[in-house]
Order: sequence, then C-alpha cells, then structure tokens
Amino acid sequence: MSSKFFLGQAGNYRAKDTIKHTFAIASKKWSNILRRYLADYYETEVKNVFLMNNGRSALAAALKTYLKPGSEVIINGFTCYAVLQAVEKANCTPVYADINKKTLNFDTKTLADAIKRHPNAKAIIIQNTLGICVDMKSIEQFAQKHQLVIIEDLAHCAGFNYPDGRKVGSVGVAAALSFGKGKSLDSITGGALILNQPPKASKTTKTPVRFGYQAPKLSDSLRARFYPLLAAIGRFTTKIHLQKYWYGPLIRLHFIERAVDAKLSFSRRPAHWQAKLIYQQFQHFEEYGAKPIRTHRLVRDRAKVLDELEKAGYNFREVWYDVPVSPVRYYKQVNFDERACPVATEVSAHIVNLPTYYPASDLNEAVKIIERNEYAKN
Ligand SMILES: Cc1ncc(COP(=O)(O)O)c(C=O)c1O
Repeated sequence: MSSKFFLGQAGNYRAKDTIKHTFAIASKKWSNILRRYLADYYETEVKNVFLMNNGRSALAAALKTYLKPGSEVIINGFTCYAVLQAVEKANCTPVYADINKKTLNFDTKTLADAIKRHPNAKAIIIQNTLGICVDMKSIEQFAQKHQLVIIEDLAHCAGFNYPDGRKVGSVGVAAALSFGKGKSLDSITGGALILNQPPKASKTTKTPVRFGYQAPKLSDSLRARFYPLLAAIGRFTTKIHLQKYWYGPLIRLHFIERAVDAKLSFSRRPAHWQAKLIYQQFQHFEEYGAKPIRTHRLVRDRAKVLDELEKAGYNFREVWYDVPVSPVRYYKQVNFDERACPVATEVSAHIVNLPTYYPASDLNEAVKIIERNEYAKN
C-alpha cells in the first residue's frame, strides 16, 4: 500500500494550514505583538525578548550571553546536531550526559556522572525531549550545588509545564524557542530567545545584548513560505514512490533546506508573517493546551518495523533520534563516546515515533505493528 500517514514532510500541515502559511502577510506590527506576547507569557520585559532566525541561533545567543568562551556545557546525550552547533557557535564545549530510559532526558544521576567526568562544566541545557519534562526541582538543586547556569531549550516543549507546575521556559536564566519544521510551534523556520535574568547580571556582557535585528534573507524567507506547499506535493510523490525525483532536485537547487543544514546567525530574525503565525499558534496553546510533537515507543528491530509500517501505509522513517546526536549524516564527525552514554545509545537504536496530529483511530494499525515488536529490555 502507498503511504497515507507521515512523520515529518510537513505532515502536520493540513490543506487549510498550507494555504494560510503560503499566503500569510504581515507588517512589523506582528513581530512587536509576538515579542510583547512572549514577554507577558514568560513574565519578562520586551527588551529581553529577541526573535531569531532559528532555535539553534537562540540557544547559541543564550550561551554567549551568560558564559565565557571555552566553557563546558552539559547537554542531553540524546539530541539533535543543532544543539551541538549552538554550543560550538558560542565557542563552548559540549559535554554529553546520559539519559534516563523513561524520560529520554538526563536526570540527577546521569548529571552526577557527567560532572564527575567534567567538574568545571558551567551550564546545562534542559531539553525536555518530546515534551517529556524533567523533574526541574531536583535538577535545579543539582545546578545550584554545582554552580551550573540553566538554559532551557523549548524546541520540543513550548507551552508545557514542569511537574511542579512552573512554566517551561521560566526557570533558567534564558530560554530558546524554535519555530522550525515539525516543532511545537511551527512556521518552518524561526525562533526566539527569552532572557529571564537581566543580561547585565552577566559577567561577560558589558554592552546591552542585541540579537535578531536584521530582516531574514529573501531566499530564506521564500524557502520557509513555500515549504509546506512543496512538502504537500512531496507527500503525494512519496505515495507513488517518486519522491527522490521531487526532493532530490529541490534540495540540490536549494529550494528546500534540510532542517539540520540551517545556518546560525545572531543578527537575523524570522519574517513578520512568520511572527504572526507563531502568535496565532501560541493563542491556540493557551486555549487548548500544548500537546507533545510526537510520542515514542521502543521496538526490537527498527528497520523491520519501519518497513512493515510502510507496507501498511505509514511513512514514519524520520525518527527522533536514530543516533544519539542525530542525524546519522553528521553523527560520525561528532565523536560521541557511546560508552559514556550507554542508555542514549541503546534507546537511539530502538526508538520509533508516532505523530500526534492524526486522530488516534488512524494510527491503530501502526500501534499494533509496534506493539507486536515491542522492545522489552529494561
Ligand atoms: C532539541 C532541539 N533543540 C534545538 C533544535 C534547533 O531548532 P532549529 O531547527 O529551529 O534551529 C532542535 C531541532 O532542530 C532540536 O531538536
């Protein structure tokens, strides 16, 4: 059977959303409205909110604001290459902490192990993988004890709350939002930086920080505008098994950019029309609550399960994360020490994802296939 359901490929964009996205128009007023809204939501001042060209740039800007170059930063051992790019752009060094199999996040036990290996680490990036939030109280205590600055990465968890009720994004010195493809808030590209602690408290910044003050490049803005439309055609070509003839040339001609290949910039912001769409998506959260971008299960033989799913009409190959620092294409150059993060290594070999944007009944067959192949090892 050809694919009917997709993970990625803008599968969350229904026809109505695609039209709304493609033809969105907005003035500067909307960027200001979004900044004001984010400032109110995260209880800070507008001057501490910066719209950025993507989430990784926002993360890098957060690190640059609060850390000295060369600082070691603890990150989740199960993550996206974009996070590593952010750490490197801020001239810092990543230290990976292993994850807890239940939450897909580091916990105080795995953090203790990372600190033992790197006693001079200066910060931690909290990722709240797939919207599963960490036990922030215990992590905060740990951070205080070891004098670690907390930075929150909201790419997977905008609009969520920690188990103790606090808003995700309101605890650390800074929070980085991503508005990238397939994220909780999605305008294909874009991001925002929220500085919760006034940057003048930082030892490294002498002048007020200034990020995201330049319009996006026209080519980036056009790519972001047309991606949902091109992906809708792409989903059709996937159904008839001709996707390589569609995506191949589009990627070679730079009409489509793979998310992981996006560039970092401290100066660029998203387009005003993207700010308007993100503002509207945030309103939706407030009304209906945020839901996880994906759910996950562990299976014994992932390659076999993905083939079986595809035969049943589910194209779920774009797994987060299929290697500890994803995607595979960049993994080799990362020099990840798998022995230091055995759980992340094991989970990344067995994880599959299910989208949350289809009615549950559409996924019944997929769930059955996954459950037949469940990976039971604890
Ligand atoms: C955990 C996490 N943080 C940050 C990012 C960066 O987001 P962006 O693509 O907007 O730079 C991503 C994805 O790319 C991610 O998965």
